[in-house]
Amino acid sequence: MPHCIRALLLTCVLIGAACSSESRRGHAGTPEDPWIVGMSQCNLGEPWRVQMDADVRAASEGHANLRMIFKDAQNNSLTQRAQVEEFIEQGVDLIIISPKEAAPLTGPVANAYQQGIPVIVLDRAVQGDQYTTFIGADNVAIGRAAGRWIREALGGRGNIVELKGLMTSTPGQDRNRGFLEGLELDRNPGLAIVFTGEMQWLEPNARREMESALATNADIDAVYAHNDPGAHGAWLAARAAGREGDMLFVGIDALPHEGQQYVAQRILDATFLYPTGGEEAIATALAILQGETVPKQIVLGTRIFTQENVASGGQAIN
Ligand code: FRU
Repeated sequence: MPHCIRALLLTCVLIGAACSSESRRGHAGTPEDPWIVGMSQCNLGEPWRVQMDADVRAASEGHANLRMIFKDAQNNSLTQRAQVEEFIEQGVDLIIISPKEAAPLTGPVANAYQQGIPVIVLDRAVQGDQYTTFIGADNVAIGRAAGRWIREALGGRGNIVELKGLMTSTPGQDRNRGFLEGLELDRNPGLAIVFTGEMQWLEPNARREMESALATNADIDAVYAHNDPGAHGAWLAARAAGREGDMLFVGIDALPHEGQQYVAQRILDATFLYPTGGEEAIATALAILQGETVPKQIVLGTRIFTQENVASGGQAIN
């Protein structure tokens, strides 16, 4: 055996999986030998994430040259780190990840990327720039629109409760920052945030936080929750206290069978669309696998749904 081939084989044995992904890189995906795409979802306990996986699955189904492997990290960042490492070892052709938290997932994503496996980061971001592309809506813009809507609906006067998502995830941080910008508290001294709680995206936590807010504040005019399950949990707490008619409820996500329904049922006053990006993720994955260069960031649009426009599909926000 020529020396150079023996050396190559030895290198392959030594670095194992990395080598197998190396050898696949650049191959044409065919129905017989499809591209393998690993998708790590941070949890499937929330309706919005179930929808994201369904959107990814639906978009991938028409492509016989693509095979998806779905993993659910069950809301555990350590599990999700291990999933990315498993994908690297398996030598998948591309990774899609919707990370639970930014900091713990930054390392494994960077590791995959540096080994030449393209990584699409979906919805929640990681730190730095060691990934191929980020796809998601602009959470600062959504928060700002929610702040403006509440400020205008209250006519510049009122007491507000903010129920935050997980603040170690980027949507929680951005939805808070945008909201404060949109409220313009310095120019509206009649507005005040009287209670904030971190409900970590979960309805039961939001309900508990809202019970505390109600117990300590006789006068609440609006609740801004970072997602619709949070806004619904707050509404349940207010209804149990007989106070749901005293205040506005605003959420984010606007799934047709969740937030939009709540608005139609007059439970929520407004919700903002947070698209899952599933379809865009598959289109982008295919472009990358076909050798195209894609933008570092793909920003998805949003819409507002209120009781006036929910029946006609909401209204786009720029
Ligand atoms: C689901 C979810 C959505 C929210 C998104 C933010 O886990 O909490 O409700 O919009 O994550 O990443």
